[in-house]
Amino acid sequence: MNTESPTEVRATSDPRALRDALATFTTGVTIVTTRDAEGAPFGVTVNSFNSVSLEPPLVLWSLAKTSRSLEAFQRAEHWAVHILSTEQDALSTRFARAGENKFEGIELESGIQDMPLLPRCTTRLQCRTSFRYEGGDHIIFVGQVVAFDRSDRAPLVFHGGKYAVATRKTPPLTLAPPEGAPIDSRFDDEFLGYLLWRASQQFHLRVQRTLAARELTQEEFFVLIPLFHNDGRSAAAFCSTLADLGLGAATSAIDRLAARGLIRIEPDTRRLFLTPTGHDEILQVLAMTKAIESECLGQLGPWESVSLKNLLKQFIVQTNPGLPHPWDAEEAEPQA
Ligand SMILES: Cc1cc2nc3c(=O)[nH]c(=O)nc-3n(C[C@H](O)[C@H](O)[C@H](O)COP(=O)(O)O)c2cc1C
Repeated sequence: MNTESPTEVRATSDPRALRDALATFTTGVTIVTTRDAEGAPFGVTVNSFNSVSLEPPLVLWSLAKTSRSLEAFQRAEHWAVHILSTEQDALSTRFARAGENKFEGIELESGIQDMPLLPRCTTRLQCRTSFRYEGGDHIIFVGQVVAFDRSDRAPLVFHGGKYAVATRKTPPLTLAPPEGAPIDSRFDDEFLGYLLWRASQQFHLRVQRTLAARELTQEEFFVLIPLFHNDGRSAAAFCSTLADLGLGAATSAIDRLAARGLIRIEPDTRRLFLTPTGHDEILQVLAMTKAIESECLGQLGPWESVSLKNLLKQFIVQTNPGLPHPWDAEEAEPQA
């Protein structure tokens, strides 16, 4: 049985359908900037950018004739293309709105002929206008790249009218079976539960080693972090939150941390506070766990790091059965 959905030929006179079809072409996102004759900066979000030639190095993009920036670009001898990084979606949205003071609060760098250069991009190409062509309701700009710089920041992606992140396609991943294990008794490598558990273990076993070196248990760590973000919480409500999250051993962890002088339990209210020693301790531990994170993400690479966090956040939000957030300020007192 053919399960593919049928392709339907649509008339190009249906502009919406055509726009939707064109939006299936996945692109990066750029902001093109220049200055007008008076030196005022102009910039537009553009995904019609493309490379044309290496010898000479030419790139192109097109600008709608209705754009307020058209005159500035028509007269400009130079313009700069900024290939945006995955963290710059808000900047892209800002430069896609006509009339707004787009450059407000941005610390600009200065390029050739004082071209306004935006910071923290994946790549920046400074170009001299080579040609301009009529292209229907757009003007096509072709420019020669005269200077460029690039970083390894993961690029922002645009598909179907929405921002996205890029992930490299890897061959199907097969995890090695435990030594000597009969092949059919193997836990399915494609099973989500296994993948989430395995990834978490590989990370947390390293964290646990760090904690052990400072004589802290994982339960104590999971008590200290939420208190670092928000202390003064009631012990009972806090323990109930942690128990909801599957961290049932919090009560004894709290007693041990209090005995070590890392937290203080206010006698009347039974509210929990980090002591200055506890505060210093968690700062040190957080620095060490951040170092583990950097190492793991370094092994994964910048694109995959962004994709992994993005997908995990989506998974957490979309499958949340109503679990509390551990750093939330104050929980309702549990019913006696
Ligand atoms: C992801 C994205 C890509 C865009 N690409 C283009 C483009 O290639 N050409 C264009 O003229 N407008 C494009 N736009 C729309 C312009 O950014 C938008 O019309 C902007 O307001 C123009 O600014 P201005 O009128 O101040 O010049 C794009 C918008 C977005 C969000």
